[in-house]
Amino acid sequence: MNVLVTGGAGYIGSHTCVELIEAGYQPIVIDNLCNSSAKSLQRVQQITGGQIPFYQGDVRDEALLNRIFDENTIGCAIHFAGLKAVGESVEKPLEYYENNLCATMTLCRVMAKRGVKKLIFSSSATVYSGDNEMPLRETSKTGNCTNPYGWTKYMGEQILRDIAKADPAWSVVNLRYFNPVGAHESGLIGEHPNGIPNNLMPYISQTAIGKRDHLNVFGNDYPTPDGTGVRDYIHVVDLAKGHVAAIEYLMQHTGEGVFNLGTGHGYSVLDMVHAFESVNGVKVPYVIAPRRAGDLPTCYADPGKSREVLGWTAGRDQNDMCRDTWNWQSKNPNGYDD
Ligand code: NAD
Ligand code: UFG
Repeated sequence: MNVLVTGGAGYIGSHTCVELIEAGYQPIVIDNLCNSSAKSLQRVQQITGGQIPFYQGDVRDEALLNRIFDENTIGCAIHFAGLKAVGESVEKPLEYYENNLCATMTLCRVMAKRGVKKLIFSSSATVYSGDNEMPLRETSKTGNCTNPYGWTKYMGEQILRDIAKADPAWSVVNLRYFNPVGAHESGLIGEHPNGIPNNLMPYISQTAIGKRDHLNVFGNDYPTPDGTGVRDYIHVVDLAKGHVAAIEYLMQHTGEGVFNLGTGHGYSVLDMVHAFESVNGVKVPYVIAPRRAGDLPTCYADPGKSREVLGWTAGRDQNDMCRDTWNWQSKNPNGYDD
């Protein structure tokens, strides 16, 4: 079956293309490369021996989507394409709402017209309200997002929920990712953020390789075991496999399903720093800095529903995440520019 993968050249999309091919699916990618390189897809082909039809362009370009549907028989779609930098979304809200929501609506309009009504959406743990008890279940309270990026995910889910309610032929899966980290074990694909990384793992690995002087640990006075923020880090290959499990669910159900993709384990910032140092035999200098605005003390999933309904669990542990991140970083210090 052909799977349309929007944003397939990106970090999670490229890893998902590997798992799709290995599970016998044929990914067909559309990406405007606004935050990625087409080299990621060449590397996916190198890893898998498969071929990936690639359309360079914007998901909001309805004519291009029509062409893709004319040229290929699409069975379902996975919608990764979107802008994802939290801080930037506060500065450029219109760009985020425009890109993330219009892309989702254009894609759904074309899919509906073509009678392809099966869609997996990249949502985020950020849709959960900050006042929930841990662990977060799919039934936990959502909303009260602290930034426009988070609202685009919240609204994106709602748009899909309403579409599935209005037309019972639709099958939609909203996947709420926790904190994706790591890279494919080959070291051929991974995450390479533009400029100074916002997220913890790329910052750790760029510090270890000497691109950054030190890591700023944002706050050590949170109500957590060592005072630093706790998150549910999930290996990107496990996350990618979660999409393959979701396709199988999508083919057998209609309506809307929502699933957490996390491990259920929370690690603090200092846990991650110390694990990275000991697994890889490197130093990660750090200083304690003030808290970052908008951060929660703790955030981790209850992955029970994904385990029971999708039959999916995350098999890779913290050591795998640290080892694979470093393998990618040290083999590709400048990402796909090397
Ligand atoms: P990424 O930036 O590496 O990948 C997104 C891809 O979409 C990029 O290749 C980009 O060029 C492309 N893109 C963006 N807007 C587009 C458009 N209008 N048309 C065509 N292509 C477009 O990010 P990622 O980490 O792989 O994230 C994938 C998805 O998962 C995003 O929707 C993101 O919001 C979501 N998500 C990511 C995280 C995370 O921490 N990485 C957490 C939760 C949810
Ligand atoms: N942190 C540091 N120093 C840094 C970067 C991060 O101490 O340089 C800390 C943060 O304060 C937090 C933890 O590391 O305690 C994780 O921070 P990240 O920025 O890596 O991740 P977040 O949990 O803040 O957010 C991520 C994505 C969001 C997504 C959310 C939930 O960036 O897009 O996970 O899935 F919504």
